[in-house]
Amino acid sequence: MECISRQNTCKRRNLTYRCGVVCILWISIFLTVPTRTDATWMWLGAASLGAVSVGRDGSHGGRPGQHDVTEAPPIHNILIDPKALCQRFPGLTVEQRRVCANTPDIINMISEGAKVGIIECQRQFSTERWNCSVIGDVNNPFGEVMSTGNRETAFIYAITSAGVVYSVTRSCSVGNLTECGCANPRGQPSSDVVNDDEEWKWGGCTDDVDYGIKLARKFVDSADKFSSSSPSPSPPPSSAMSHPSMTKPGVKEMNLHNNEVGRQLIKSGMKTLYRCHGVSASCSLKTCWKAMPNFKEIGDLVKLRYREGVEVVVRTKKHVRLRRKDRRMRREAIASDELVYMQRSPNYCRTNPDLGIVGTTGRECNRTSTGSDSCDLLCCGRGYNTQVIRRIDRCDCKFIWCCKVKCRVCETVSDIYTCK
Ligand SMILES: *[C@@H]1O[C@H](CO)[C@@H](O)[C@H](O)[C@H]1NC(C)=O
Ligand SMILES: *[C@@H]1O[C@H](CO)[C@@H](O)[C@H](O)[C@H]1NC(C)=O
Ligand SMILES: *[C@@H]1O[C@H](CO)[C@@H](O)[C@H](O)[C@H]1NC(C)=O
Repeated sequence: MECISRQNTCKRRNLTYRCGVVCILWISIFLTVPTRTDATWMWLGAASLGAVSVGRDGSHGGRPGQHDVTEAPPIHNILIDPKALCQRFPGLTVEQRRVCANTPDIINMISEGAKVGIIECQRQFSTERWNCSVIGDVNNPFGEVMSTGNRETAFIYAITSAGVVYSVTRSCSVGNLTECGCANPRGQPSSDVVNDDEEWKWGGCTDDVDYGIKLARKFVDSADKFSSSSPSPSPPPSSAMSHPSMTKPGVKEMNLHNNEVGRQLIKSGMKTLYRCHGVSASCSLKTCWKAMPNFKEIGDLVKLRYREGVEVVVRTKKHVRLRRKDRRMRREAIASDELVYMQRSPNYCRTNPDLGIVGTTGRECNRTSTGSDSCDLLCCGRGYNTQVIRRIDRCDCKFIWCCKVKCRVCETVSDIYTCK
């Protein structure tokens, strides 16, 4: 094994583990986080958004008296051995550590995927009482309220799981991973005559979404498949208490179902794109490939499923199964594109630090809107403050040949309303 420290590049068998800025950042983050037994992988995304506070003293928002600090290995060991990195990342299950050891790059993809999911979640909910805010808790990035399995939990699991598929598949397509690349659209002849004068063939890079789904499933689902989340010999007894999802029957099944919904939405949203060839773009020959949808479209779809979410109850015979709560619909199986939840959402109006609910005080609302961002709804009837904001902007910009842009300075005055 050879390690050139100047470039931070370690060659390990035929696998090149690049340790760039991102990786250094990870190392510094994880060195400051004590190893926990009940954290979820999603905090990786929250951390890369800078939303999780990680203090050296373990003051990262978790409950006091629950620290499980072990000596961190010296940094050069990590650079040499990516497996050490996987071992020491907090919040990973045994299976996740195994996947990580085989594909160390996955840590970057997981955090990127979770980040994409969280950003989209915040975009989708920016005008609602619950705005997908990440609170600074490594164990429960979205707050304790998520552990009970409500509609918002369902959204988060589906969107972050879709995010991981998205980022893994994208990494394959751009050639960042040695294990995968572009897919062969299967079952299709490489060249085909569609009609008399239009010929097309597969070409370009088809996103290998099947690989993305497989790897994402292996990593993400193992957080819920195996309840005990750490190789730690004696998990603190309080950890089960602190993480109701580990004890409440059905939540595990619910999370796994919603993870799959997120993944399948990406697959079913695959689009065929094409490029024209032929004399002066006559399009007599097309090259076609399949690409994942834009992630915003995925966000819109998950939001739709969220609105139409199905309340389920647990039915335990031999093993735990979920079925619709609605008696009239009970016989109908839960579809693979339906998000499920087990608990009604709490009222997100008021701050509740115990549950990690931030409340809507201070949120900007719209006085003239009639939607969820209206001051009435968003402020939960508490009223709002009005603030006059003066802004100095550049305006009336003109392009002057060549090559300058000239602008005037304008002042705009606007009112901003924030919830009391
Ligand atoms: C591919 O890897 C490069 C370098 O590590 C990184 O900057 C880029 O964001 C990656 N692209 C994707 C799609 O993962
Ligand atoms: C969500 O709302 C809280 C205030 O209730 C605010 O502090 C936070 O920045 C918001 N988060 C996002 C992502 O908009
Ligand atoms: C407030 O809502 C109205 C009506 O929906 C909309 O036209 C307007 O652009 C919104 N204003 C802001 C500042 O978002």
